[in-house]
Amino acid sequence: MCGIVGYVGNRQASSILVEGLSKLEYRGYDSAGIAVLNNNEIEVRKFKGRLQNLANSLNEKPINGNIGIGHTRWATHGEPSDVNSHPHSNANVTLSVVHNGIIENYIKLREWLTSKGYTFFSETDTEVIPNLIDFYYEGDLFDAVVKATSKLEGSFAIGVVNKNEPDKLIAVRKDSPLIVGLGNDEFFIASDIPAVLNYTRNIYLLEDKEFVILTKDGVELRTEEGEKIEKEIYHVTWNVDAAEKGGYEDFMLKEIHEQPKAVKDTLLGKIALNKEITLDNITFTKEELENFDKIYIVACGTAYHAGVVGKTVIEKLAKIPVEVDIASEFRYRDPMITDKTLIIVVSQSGETADTLAVLRDGKKQGARILAITNVVGSSVSREADDVFYTLAGPEIAVASTKAYVTQLAAFYILGLYFASLKNTLCIEEIETIKSELLQIPDKIERALNMKDSLQKFASSHYNHKDMYFLGRGLDYAVAMEGSLKLKEISYIHCDAYAAGELKHGPIALIEKDTAVITLLTQEYLKDKMISNVREVSTRGGNIFAVVNEGDTIAREVCDDLVYIPKTIDLLTPLVSVIPLQLISYYIAKQKGCDVDKPRNLAKSVTVE
Ligand code: G6P
Repeated sequence: MCGIVGYVGNRQASSILVEGLSKLEYRGYDSAGIAVLNNNEIEVRKFKGRLQNLANSLNEKPINGNIGIGHTRWATHGEPSDVNSHPHSNANVTLSVVHNGIIENYIKLREWLTSKGYTFFSETDTEVIPNLIDFYYEGDLFDAVVKATSKLEGSFAIGVVNKNEPDKLIAVRKDSPLIVGLGNDEFFIASDIPAVLNYTRNIYLLEDKEFVILTKDGVELRTEEGEKIEKEIYHVTWNVDAAEKGGYEDFMLKEIHEQPKAVKDTLLGKIALNKEITLDNITFTKEELENFDKIYIVACGTAYHAGVVGKTVIEKLAKIPVEVDIASEFRYRDPMITDKTLIIVVSQSGETADTLAVLRDGKKQGARILAITNVVGSSVSREADDVFYTLAGPEIAVASTKAYVTQLAAFYILGLYFASLKNTLCIEEIETIKSELLQIPDKIERALNMKDSLQKFASSHYNHKDMYFLGRGLDYAVAMEGSLKLKEISYIHCDAYAAGELKHGPIALIEKDTAVITLLTQEYLKDKMISNVREVSTRGGNIFAVVNEGDTIAREVCDDLVYIPKTIDLLTPLVSVIPLQLISYYIAKQKGCDVDKPRNLAKSVTVE
């Protein structure tokens, strides 16, 4: 998704903007640009393609100036091209704007502005913004931005510079993330914290419709009526290194290896043997919990796959009926929500547009909202009634890995917490699961040591056009995540099937050497799975299996396999996903793909 940055201070803006944009590359983009105020003129430089194109051009021909805005674009309206890249300006370039979001009424606004004599050069929705601001400009940029944004429908985080007020940068957000960085005599705006972390740890987390006026002398926050807003400073405690590669070839590989720590951190302080489960930002009474007749788990992408595991966990442990839904479907299917409904939204970024919309609609309809998110201060975390923070640290690679396992950990902790409140499990049962859970970080560590055999598998299977994943029960949930991971970063067509469904269609796809990855970790379903595996091998399929240590049967029916450390069936997804992540990673590398920034994908999808 698009990323925006802005700078006001005493240093050269262009290099700070490019460096800030490089920290937002993980969001996914196809073009990049900046606008800098240089001798009372706005100079815009923007290119389709990698940020490096912009950096090279600035090295050859620098732009001087201490105030500017920058943008990485992820195309929605208009193909990736130089002209569609941001910043966008009015025709005589007195005003420039960067924008993250979508202006839904841009066609109407564009027609109206055209009738007033304005000219448009790009196919973007964004270009209406500088022209609208120009239309309303009567010598006060703040007034003009307020008036212009009041006409916009949709979502936006924008940064604006104006050559007639060359000491000022104005920004505002609605439904798209935006933060303000507070340095010493220099101030920043950005879509996300890593963009400013090299310069400051003091941040304002802007709310919707909060305007910010930045000059090198300070920052002023105002409502649209022009009233001053007082805001608490949020101090970032995590280290800048957490957002760097730390010796690994890619962020994805680094994040895969951070999983033991991510799970350990998420469990820490919440789960300990012979102690009650304590959750900081979650406060259910027994009565409140018993009042819920339904839980909906709603999310997108990998977070949705964590929710599929979460459904089984909560139903098994706490005996509350759970439905799990994709956010973009849930919003429009008119679900039955009452004040007896608990909605659990899961979002690594806390900014996914569809997930946020579910949260807001659900709240309006009287549901209680519990958010599982990785980002403190994200929109989801601020608007939910209760929050479970996964402590994965910043996840930069587009394909989610460590966020997924911490989301699973969150569901296990919540399941146990609900179960202890509702007395659906006895103390011994709770203690057994806790004890197994506490051993998971070490088991993930051991699963990571299987890399050599997975790399070998990848080098002999990377040129398949299709691959299939099979599992039953929780193995099916993990198969879905494994299949998503592989298609996201290697562009191989993959599908995951519930093994029992094979005979109802997918088996027609199996022929000689079709690659099938199966999960055989659920002991109570093993015999059934083995029969399904035989159905595939009989038809010539090439089977790779993920099995528990100690298994003796799988080797007889599979072509190749990897053993993972054994835990109880319910917790196995935390370990069985590891080989699938590594297989995807090694296959993508073997194919020469950019694993951290796969084509067409964005880390945080902040538009519908
Ligand atoms: C995008 C990302 C996925 C992520 C999904 C949901 O599709 O590429 O990795 O799982 O969004 O994101 P969220 O931040 O809400 O978990």
